[in-house]
Amino acid sequence: SSDKAEQPSGGSTAAAPAAEKKLVVGFSQVGAESAWRTAETKSIQGEAAKRGVDLKFADAQGKQAQQIQALTSFIAQKVDAIVLAPVVETGWDAVLQQAKDANIPVILVDRGVKVSDDSLYTTLIASDFVEEGRMAAEWLAKKTNAKANIYELQGTTGSAPAIDRKKGFEEILAKNPDMKIVKSQSGDFTRAKGKEVMEAFIKSDGKNIQAVYAHNDDMALGAIQALEEAGMNPGKDVIVISVDAVKAAFEAMVAGKLNATVECNPLMGPLVFDTIDRVRKGEKLPKFIQNKDQLFEQANAAQVIGTREY
Ligand code: AHR
Repeated sequence: SSDKAEQPSGGSTAAAPAAEKKLVVGFSQVGAESAWRTAETKSIQGEAAKRGVDLKFADAQGKQAQQIQALTSFIAQKVDAIVLAPVVETGWDAVLQQAKDANIPVILVDRGVKVSDDSLYTTLIASDFVEEGRMAAEWLAKKTNAKANIYELQGTTGSAPAIDRKKGFEEILAKNPDMKIVKSQSGDFTRAKGKEVMEAFIKSDGKNIQAVYAHNDDMALGAIQALEEAGMNPGKDVIVISVDAVKAAFEAMVAGKLNATVECNPLMGPLVFDTIDRVRKGEKLPKFIQNKDQLFEQANAAQVIGTREY
């Protein structure tokens, strides 16, 4: 559809201001599995409301099939743009081709996709997940003098952050032979599953657990609970590091239970709609627009917590 201003209907003396047609954007979100995800949803919905964008929001409850259905429906409704946070990396070619054929730009947010043809999406606005994994491992190497039995809680199987955060972490481990991932399992980015998986790790390996690397804060918080319930001291005898830097992670750091968290910025609303505006003006965009992240640790958590926005 077009964003051309409609002509005011004539008749009276004073001309009414031209009524601009609202921009219509479809947003297919993964779900609400983590505090991070909720912050991202709020940021995009809030910015849409601020700009008067008609945002069609669809929560896929972690299911790719539901996301594909939402996209098909956005295309049928001829939205002006689609924002997609893809749950997994693969399986998007057909539906993205339909969007392309309908001339609807697709902006990927936070997670990338693997497609046969990069022109199937306009751009990806996200963090560098591989770098986040590297940052976590580098910090852990310093903290443990490069010697640790590590238990890993992976994110959703097949998702870009789970794949890349593991990859970046292992890259650094390859240079530190005394740092080993002893067990690694998916906790699906949720607090409940993080706790469940950690309970199983504790049951089988108990005292062997020296460090926990969780692909997000929610799983780390679940793991911390499991460790405490088993009479262990997370943050002290078990080093815990995760990714996201949500408010609850800062609270856990202030309480001495989480050691560090690598930031992953979910507040992308303003950038998403600026990007859509640029696409509509015909600007050529890079394929990757990167959010920059930093690492926070216990030592500075109390000082920083008041400034955190999510
Ligand atoms: O894609 C970003 C990841 O998805 C976040 O790190 C995690 O919390 C979320 O569920």
